[in-house]
Amino acid sequence: MMEVISGNTVSRKCGRRLSVAPMLDWTDRHYRYLARQLSRHTWLYTEMVNAGAIVYGDAERFLLKDECENPVALQLGGSEPKDLAAAARMAAGYGYDEINLNCGCPSPRVQKGAFGACLMKEVDLVADCLNAMQAAAPDCEITVKHRIGIDRDTDYAVLADFVGTLARKTACRTFIVHARNAWLDGLSPKENRDIPPLRYEYVYRLKREFSDLCIIINGGITDNAQIATHLQYTDGVMVGREAYHNPMILRSWDGLFYGDRLPEIGYGELMEKLYAYICTQLQSGRGTTVRHIVRHYLGLMHGLKQARVWRRMLSDAALLRENRPELLLEAWQQVKDGNDGLV
Ligand SMILES: Cc1cc2nc3c(=O)[nH]c(=O)nc-3n(C[C@H](O)[C@H](O)[C@H](O)COP(=O)(O)O)c2cc1C
Repeated sequence: MMEVISGNTVSRKCGRRLSVAPMLDWTDRHYRYLARQLSRHTWLYTEMVNAGAIVYGDAERFLLKDECENPVALQLGGSEPKDLAAAARMAAGYGYDEINLNCGCPSPRVQKGAFGACLMKEVDLVADCLNAMQAAAPDCEITVKHRIGIDRDTDYAVLADFVGTLARKTACRTFIVHARNAWLDGLSPKENRDIPPLRYEYVYRLKREFSDLCIIINGGITDNAQIATHLQYTDGVMVGREAYHNPMILRSWDGLFYGDRLPEIGYGELMEKLYAYICTQLQSGRGTTVRHIVRHYLGLMHGLKQARVWRRMLSDAALLRENRPELLLEAWQQVKDGNDGLV
């Protein structure tokens, strides 16, 4: 039986002890379905969706989710309170538990639309956005994801002022902090996830100074020991890339961090569920293909023998063109054959 390796000494009121970060092109509903098979409690996030795309475009395409995904948050991008409110209202109807406003994305495309990380410079506008979203979706929790600062300004007071102002002017009580600055002048979004230095101490201090708020830490966290350490100083940990490239890490989280005593799912049982899911999706009439789904499975055998064969089979263009769900089982058989006793 597993032991909870870190009691959160700070606060238990926030349900998001563990969450998987919003990641464009990665955390779509197919990835989230996989994640939910691995952990019952981990909080999941959609990719960032532009509020305007929901309000003026194909809402169903962006908001569709499986009921099993909850608890799940929709992340919105935007800076127009009216559009954000309309998108939040629609999202509430689809059963999202939380709606998160992106104030951390450094992409130049996003900057042109005056949202994402550059919103950290416009705290009053952010407050208007959050208030409009909350009024439109009173039963959803409204949250913000942001950086610790913009460009080369590493003054902690800027971060504290941003969070403090929002806490005063809005009902937002949960702040997800990517513990590095966003450098808006010349770094690509990818570089902006690696190059600006991580300053976890800023996030810990934020929690100390705003102890009533739920403060979630994010950025560069890759294993359970690091998670346990961060949980001593914050209310929750959000993991991005590691949860995508090595999804099996989620299997241990219910036991380790939520005290859930149900056994972890085995590979064999997982494969059965994923196979059934692919079959259902192919029959859904939405044009979903095997490739749309299994592209999220490439990291599942991380650390096992035959992981390369698994990846190669699931990304082989000719095999994927056949669009047969059985491809998953055939690749799994290769892994099983190479790993004695794996279930
Ligand atoms: C492919 C990719 C797409 C991302 N898309 C988003 C996004 O849509 N919204 C967002 O707030 N952050 C986005 N991020 C940033 C992550 O949410 C997270 O803050 C960042 O990767 C740092 O966490 P990590 O070091 O655990 O990956 C993205 C990151 C990656 C790798």
